[in-house]
Amino acid sequence: MKEQLSSIKQSAEKALSGAIDLNEIENLRVKFLGKKGDLTSVMKGMGKLSNEERPIIGKLANEVRTFIECALDEKKDALLKKAKAAKLELETVDVGLPGKIPSTGKRHPMTTVIDDLNEIFIGMGFTIAEGPEVELDYYNFEALNLPPDHPARDTQDTFYINENTVLRTQTSPVQIRVMENQKPPVRIISPGRVYRSDAVDATHSPVFHQMEGLVVDEGITMADLKGTLEVFIKKLYGEDTKVRFRPHHFPFTEPSAEVDISCFNCGGEGCRICKGEGWIEILGCGMVHPKVLENCGIDPDKYSGFAFGIGLERVAMFRYGIDDLRLFYENDLGFLKQF
Ligand code: DAH
Repeated sequence: MKEQLSSIKQSAEKALSGAIDLNEIENLRVKFLGKKGDLTSVMKGMGKLSNEERPIIGKLANEVRTFIECALDEKKDALLKKAKAAKLELETVDVGLPGKIPSTGKRHPMTTVIDDLNEIFIGMGFTIAEGPEVELDYYNFEALNLPPDHPARDTQDTFYINENTVLRTQTSPVQIRVMENQKPPVRIISPGRVYRSDAVDATHSPVFHQMEGLVVDEGITMADLKGTLEVFIKKLYGEDTKVRFRPHHFPFTEPSAEVDISCFNCGGEGCRICKGEGWIEILGCGMVHPKVLENCGIDPDKYSGFAFGIGLERVAMFRYGIDDLRLFYENDLGFLKQF
C-alpha cells in the first residue's frame, strides 16, 4: 500500500506539472481525490490492514492527500495569475500611438453668405427679424398688395397647404409681420428659406433663400434706398463695383427697381458669367407702397420706407464660382469640405 500511495503522489505531481488550464486541474482533482478517485480506492482497502499498519498507512494517506490538495491549489493559483497577466498584457495602452483626430464640420457656404450679409447690415444699424415658413396667404400676398386675382401671383408658383395657408414664396411677408408689431423707425433684415413649386435644375430649386430688407421712418426717400444698397453692394463685391437701378414693377413697392452690378468677373466688358451683358442682376427693391403701410396701420402721409429682396443662392454661386444650385442641397461632403 505504501508503494501504491507513493506512486499516486508521483503521478499526481507529474500530471499537475503538465496541466495547462483550470479544466484540467479540476479533472485531476476528481481523478486523484474524488469519491471514485485513486486515493479513495486505496483508502477503501485500509480495513484489511493490521492494527499496527493501519495508523501508519492512514497517516501516509493523509499526507499524500494534503500534498495533492496543496499542489492542486498552487497550480490553480499559478494558472490564474498567468491568465491575468496575459489579459493585462492585451489591454496595455500604447501611449505612443497617434490619436484619432476628430473630424470637425464646416459651415455650409449658404450659412457663411447669410452670416456675412447679416454682419454688413448689422453694421448699418439693422436688426434681424424672422417669420414663419408656413405662412398665411394674407401675409405672403394680400397684405403685400397682391389680392387673390392679382396677375403677379402667377409668377410665384406656390405650394398651397390649404386655401389660406402657403409655404412662403418670398421673405416679404416678414415686412408685414414686423410693421404690425413695431411702429417706425423700423430697420430690419430677414434672411430665410422660401418655397416655389419649380422643377429642379442648375438654377432652380423648390427651396431657396432670400434676404428681405425694410426701412420705415419719417422722411425716407429713394436716396436712402440707393445709398444703403450701394454701401451694401460695395462691401460685398468691392469698392469698384458699379451699381445700376433699372425701373421694374413689384406690387408692394412704388416706384420699384431692379438692381444690377457691374460684372465682378469681367468688370463690365462682357463675359460668360454676365452672358456678355457686363451687368448682373442681383436684387429687387422699391419704396414701400402706401397701401402696404396702411395695411399695417402705419400712416403713409407721415411715414415712408424702402424695401429690398435679394436671392442668396446667386450671391453664394457668384462668390464661390459654383455653377449648379443643386450642389447646395445635396449634402455631398466632397463639395462641402471645400469651403
Ligand atoms: N419678394 C420679391 C421676389 O421674391 C423680391 C423683392 C422685390 C422684395 C422688391 C422686396 C422688394 O422687398 O421691395 O421676387
